[in-house]
Amino acid sequence: MNITIVGTGYVGLVTGACFAKIGHNCLCIDNDQSKISSLQAGEIPFYEPGLSELVTEMCTAGRLTFSTDSAEGVQRSPVIFIAVGTPATPSGKADLSYIEQVARTIAQSMNEYKVVVEKSTVPVQTGERVRMTIDRHISSEIPFDVASNPEFLREGSAIEDALHPDRIVLGVESERAESLLREVYAPLDAPILVTNIGSAEIIKHASNSFLAMKISYANALSQICELANADIDEVARGVGLDRRIGENFLRAGVGYGGSCFPKDVDAFCDIASELGYEFRLLQEVQAINREQRRYFLRKIEDALWIVKEKTVTIFGLSFKPNTDDLRQAPSLDVIEWLLEHGAKVHAHDPKAIPAMRKLYGDRIRYFEDPYEAAQDADCVAILTEWQIYGDLDLTRLKDSMKQAVMVDGRNLFDPQEVIGLGFEYKSIGRR
Ligand code: UDX
Repeated sequence: MNITIVGTGYVGLVTGACFAKIGHNCLCIDNDQSKISSLQAGEIPFYEPGLSELVTEMCTAGRLTFSTDSAEGVQRSPVIFIAVGTPATPSGKADLSYIEQVARTIAQSMNEYKVVVEKSTVPVQTGERVRMTIDRHISSEIPFDVASNPEFLREGSAIEDALHPDRIVLGVESERAESLLREVYAPLDAPILVTNIGSAEIIKHASNSFLAMKISYANALSQICELANADIDEVARGVGLDRRIGENFLRAGVGYGGSCFPKDVDAFCDIASELGYEFRLLQEVQAINREQRRYFLRKIEDALWIVKEKTVTIFGLSFKPNTDDLRQAPSLDVIEWLLEHGAKVHAHDPKAIPAMRKLYGDRIRYFEDPYEAAQDADCVAILTEWQIYGDLDLTRLKDSMKQAVMVDGRNLFDPQEVIGLGFEYKSIGRR
């Protein structure tokens, strides 16, 4: 089946490559010629495990192509996915201007019936606005449907999540649209939930917000554990063994980041408030997430006493392992605070240093080797649980440091082991 995807970011590119993988002919459209040229040259503008290989394989198979010609994209496929960004505005409201722009462009190129599908994460009622926009700009009485088909991709495992989803959600307004989307997903073995557009839009925001709530709940528990001389890892394990709760997303740490949870929780709060409901529960989820970074910084300050002129080595810049994405990463808040307090910052990350250099330039120092990054450091702070840090030779690390102080924001290490090696060790919510 011919499928067109508008937007070649994390969601659009992964979705297009995976649709091609399951047998469809996918054309990915972007209005950024340089991005399209890079993709046509086989260059992927971000790190996602396996994506570069999959894109090359699908392009070679002739089932994945890239273009800036949106008219061609609209006219060649019965199904058009909108996968452009919906960034947060300072107020927390989602910026839907790219969605509107694409809906208008699609309308102006429409030559016959199409299903226009929201793949991007959008607030509820956006589908109605997309329909209104297409109605206003469509050239004649051409029939069309709007649909919502949210993605549940995690960075770092996006291909796996796309090819083996827990569920496929189809928010549709006609049987014709439903049957086309069922055809798109026929090769996948996953339960398909068919509902209306508004419910599908809410399912996405509600799912991400629930996951963020689990994390903030674990982080709140971590502070109680620390006050009660209990251990959050053991508490989380005990709670998570309840099949109704589940062990996932109960890992306390320095707080969640990324391009989704912060933005989606903000946008859900905003649309709920617009509809007339103050989502106080989610406002507290956000507040706990902000507080967890301050709680971590207090640990660094307690460990160093005077931060000014001290050298602090940051292990892990990306918001989570197996990605180079720095969006809303805890490292940004931690490094900003350290610089404001006069510390010297050494940074290491397996993948995110090029992205960090663009943000911080020579305000901090970058290292390809973790032991060199820790050379003569007064403290090592772990912000992302990359495997490379769990594999470190801690004796060698300790010997390279000026003083063996470690503040572990992801409870990567066993306290007894690290303390036994002579480190002064602080972590999250543990005895
Ligand atoms: C998330 C959702 O998981 C995914 O379904 C949705 O489509 C997009 O948003 P992503 O943001 O890529 O995916 O990463 P995820 O693995 O969910 O982690 C998000 C943040 O939560 C990271 O900063 C991670 O460090 C943090 N986290 C996750 C915790 O602090 N504790 C946990 O137990 C799990």
